[in-house]
Amino acid sequence: MNSSPLDLRLSNVSVRYGAVAALDAVSIEVRRGEIVTILGANGAGKTTLMRAITGLVPLVGGEIHLDGRRLDGLAPHRIAREGIGVVPEGRKVYARLSVRENLLMGSRLSRSTVPEHARLEQVLGRFPALRTRMNESGALLSGGEQQMVALGRALMTTPKVLLMDEPSLGLAPMMIDEVFRVIGELRESGVTILLVEQNATMALDIADRAYVLQTGKLVASGTAAGLRHASTVADAYLGVI
Ligand SMILES: Nc1ncnc2c1ncn2[C@@H]1O[C@H](COP(=O)(O)OP(=O)(O)O)[C@@H](O)[C@H]1O
Ligand SMILES: [Mg+2]
Repeated sequence: MNSSPLDLRLSNVSVRYGAVAALDAVSIEVRRGEIVTILGANGAGKTTLMRAITGLVPLVGGEIHLDGRRLDGLAPHRIAREGIGVVPEGRKVYARLSVRENLLMGSRLSRSTVPEHARLEQVLGRFPALRTRMNESGALLSGGEQQMVALGRALMTTPKVLLMDEPSLGLAPMMIDEVFRVIGELRESGVTILLVEQNATMALDIADRAYVLQTGKLVASGTAAGLRHASTVADAYLGVI
């Protein structure tokens, strides 16, 4: 029985680092097929939210469910196998591994019955520029190429929900356009996406819905189109760029 219309649900999630309340009773829903964006200034708690979902920081309160199955408390590799893929902050492409090895790292976390070589072909079909770089070390890649490897590695896990933490950060404008083009294509192919972005204008242009975080608390949420005009967003975020 599939009674849940949701992919991912965070209910009253709280995270602390010592005395710092990084997330305070945050509730977020990401429904199947949506792009949802999380906006907020530096230090608002966006990366902590990603780390809470992927099991890298423990919750001090609240629960996280994916299609009705509880995720919080599971080890990070179990959470990945449940269908959470991640493009982490700073990309985290391994400099000492080749492009191929970086891509295949994601493969072990996949639930898919599609063979590895076929999934690799799909990823290379999406990022043809990587095909000639497969044996090169991650250290030799440009920021844009690293972002493609990080995205490809996440897609090798065949995620139900793809988390992306500031994928455009530090990229040249042409590469930023390319990253957003790929995000749009992924949506078309049915991937559900939770996108953290400092580029609020581009994020609101591509997202269906958005939430605004301010020092660990949700201060606004709604449709992306509606939030583009809301003064809370301008105050909390858009005004600072
Ligand atoms: N490992 C950590 N130890 C202590 N405090 C942290 C740690 N990581 C983040 N913080 C603090 O938690 C808050 C939220 O940080 P973060 O989630 O990285 O925000 P964002 O991604 O929105 O910039 C900030 O006040 C930050 O200084
Ligand atoms: Mg961050």
